[in-house]
Amino acid sequence: MVLPPLNLFEYEKQAQEHLDTAVWDHYQGGSDDEVTLRACRDAFAQVWLRPRALVDVSSCDLRTTVLGTPISVPVLVAPTGGQGLAHSEGELATVRGAGAAGTLMVVAMFSTRSLEEIAQQATGPRWLQLYVRSRAQTRHVVQRAQAAGYQALVLTVDSPRPARCERDWRNGFAGFPFGNYDEAEFIDPRATEGDKALIQDAVTWEMLDWLRSLTSLPIVLKGILTAEDARFALEHGVAGLIVSNHGGRRLDGSVPALMALPEVIEAVAGRCEVYLDGGIRRGTDVLKALALGARAVLVGRPVLWGLAVNGEQGVRHVLSILSQELETAMALAGCPGVKQIHSSLVRQRGTFGSREPASL
Ligand SMILES: Cc1cc2nc3c(=O)[nH]c(=O)nc-3n(C[C@H](O)[C@H](O)[C@H](O)COP(=O)(O)O)c2cc1C
Repeated sequence: MVLPPLNLFEYEKQAQEHLDTAVWDHYQGGSDDEVTLRACRDAFAQVWLRPRALVDVSSCDLRTTVLGTPISVPVLVAPTGGQGLAHSEGELATVRGAGAAGTLMVVAMFSTRSLEEIAQQATGPRWLQLYVRSRAQTRHVVQRAQAAGYQALVLTVDSPRPARCERDWRNGFAGFPFGNYDEAEFIDPRATEGDKALIQDAVTWEMLDWLRSLTSLPIVLKGILTAEDARFALEHGVAGLIVSNHGGRRLDGSVPALMALPEVIEAVAGRCEVYLDGGIRRGTDVLKALALGARAVLVGRPVLWGLAVNGEQGVRHVLSILSQELETAMALAGCPGVKQIHSSLVRQRGTFGSREPASL
């Protein structure tokens, strides 16, 4: 008898049994030598918590808001393309699972179901992730997103070119059907083998002003890792930033998101919301990211594992495990609510004797 997974790592193991090797590798893999992929996880072990004693934590409040939208836990579903490879219902199961868990899904533009179908099944809030290939296509998809009730646009900016995801090349990964587009529109002749390549290498900051002129939806940039870009983003009127290296799937050697977070938080100085993704697997990881200034985190692969193991229920269970772990961690750390989580809760590994909140 297979026991229900106790934690996200057990989901990971069970998911592998449900997926073909090529799909498993596509989901799990990173770029080049996967240095950043591993570092994303390792970064959490470099941060220590400073729990406070004798605080009334008889109930811990996990609720928060993102861009004004209430959610029951500060954990969002990250955009991941190709969810139909994990489960026949793909994104439809994920959006229902996210809604049941009381949180928000960021729907990937490269979903296997159309953004309208996904919106119809949604019981919770959702944002739409975009890549910009051409202005005409982008205008069209923004109009569709607005009509279907998406509440924000998440523009991914870490992907001017496809990266070298060599596991996919080695496996001859066949890709997946596009739910929103005619695939031919997106294949670039310069794409390397195995990539359904999207190349947006001529896109610059001006495009953001153009995008803002198209829509009143708030715009969140995904893939920011530096204070410099955070400041540019603010000048171009973004509502939020996702500190992310695409789960180690783009520039290998780029800084783990958790390490980049403090400089982005400092640069932003409260002028927009900042979120983080990459390597979140435990409630204590969420707590550390929030203590370092993130308003919420996003999870990518763990949602795919839940989806592969048990569809909508699996997604819901993965998110509820993270919620329960976060609740326990907050109680043990003396934090009765998300609002009470601040930088004095963490210190960097190896810094002894300092009473200052650590920065990475
Ligand atoms: C299989 C897969 C597909 C992804 N597709 C997209 C995508 O289409 N757009 C995007 O912005 N990010 C995409 N990402 C990156 C995720 O949004 C997120 O940044 C990353 O998965 C977070 O790391 P984690 O998997 O360790 O939680 C993808 C990630 C994976 C694993």
